[in-house]
Amino acid sequence: MNAPRRKALITGASAGIGATFAHQLAASGYDLLLAARRGDRLQTLADQLVTEHGIQCEVLSVDLASPDAARVVVEHLDKLDWRIDFLVNNAGLSGHSKFAQATWSQLNGEIQLMMTTLTELIHRIAAGMMERGWGRIINVSSLAALSPPGESLLYSAIKTYVLILSQSLDMEFKPHGVHVTALCPGFTYSEFHDVMGTRDTANDLPAFMWQQPQDVARAGVAAVMAGKPVCVPGAFNKIMAALMRPMPLWLSYLAGRALNPFK
Ligand SMILES: NC(=O)c1ccc[n+]([C@@H]2O[C@H](COP(=O)([O-])OP(=O)(O)OC[C@H]3O[C@@H](n4cnc5c(N)ncnc54)[C@H](OP(=O)(O)O)[C@@H]3O)[C@@H](O)[C@H]2O)c1
Repeated sequence: MNAPRRKALITGASAGIGATFAHQLAASGYDLLLAARRGDRLQTLADQLVTEHGIQCEVLSVDLASPDAARVVVEHLDKLDWRIDFLVNNAGLSGHSKFAQATWSQLNGEIQLMMTTLTELIHRIAAGMMERGWGRIINVSSLAALSPPGESLLYSAIKTYVLILSQSLDMEFKPHGVHVTALCPGFTYSEFHDVMGTRDTANDLPAFMWQQPQDVARAGVAAVMAGKPVCVPGAFNKIMAALMRPMPLWLSYLAGRALNPFK
């Protein structure tokens, strides 16, 4: 009898990098649970992946910025009687208003989505992976976590949390067969800047600064399979990360204040 297929949960699979992860993990033979708010898009993608790869693909329309989101996702997994082997915490966005002008509900939504729900999903899912002795977790951080801080951007602080958390958890989980990788993409073609409202400025940035989501997702999967706790995809991003890391904090602050194109 064939071994059961491994199962993956991908958050933010309705667009961009998350949808690309779905294509790549389906091609590798994983059954998928795709989660995001736009259920119609998820269902269209799921139908395509089932047809192309013969996998089982489930969808869950859920607002991952809501405080009970991780519980809702895990209850759905219990209903399916699924145990997750591969978790991709990808859902994310960046607000674009000044911190003081944003409502608390906007700011708290970003924290819930990219910190609380991400952390709670790992907490609820990783224990089972460790019991079974195999698991892979990709947390999508950003080059922003390695870059000078951007004025008013909660995003840089959140993605720095994701980076450090991933490294810490990788140390704890790896002896139990579970690898954790912080994937730190730079500018990647997706809907991110449409949602952020910075499309015009983003379009002015030179092409060499941009990556295709396929390359980003592929690098993330390769890194987590190889047990690398941090992955900066792409040559340009690697050079930028190497240049920015040794920067003294006072210089990083000044550079961040001067260089942020989205002010
Ligand atoms: N693109 C870049 O330049 C770039 C660079 C560095 C890091 N990243 C990171 O990469 C990840 C993926 O972003 P992307 O570039 O692929 O952007 P995208 O094309 O806008 O996709 C974002 C995904 O997140 C989901 N999402 C957003 N808010 C959600 C919520 N409240 N509940 C559930 N799902 C939610 C969206 O689904 P719904 O709208 O259907 O809910 C969508 O599937 C993010 O974590 C982002 O921070 C992106």
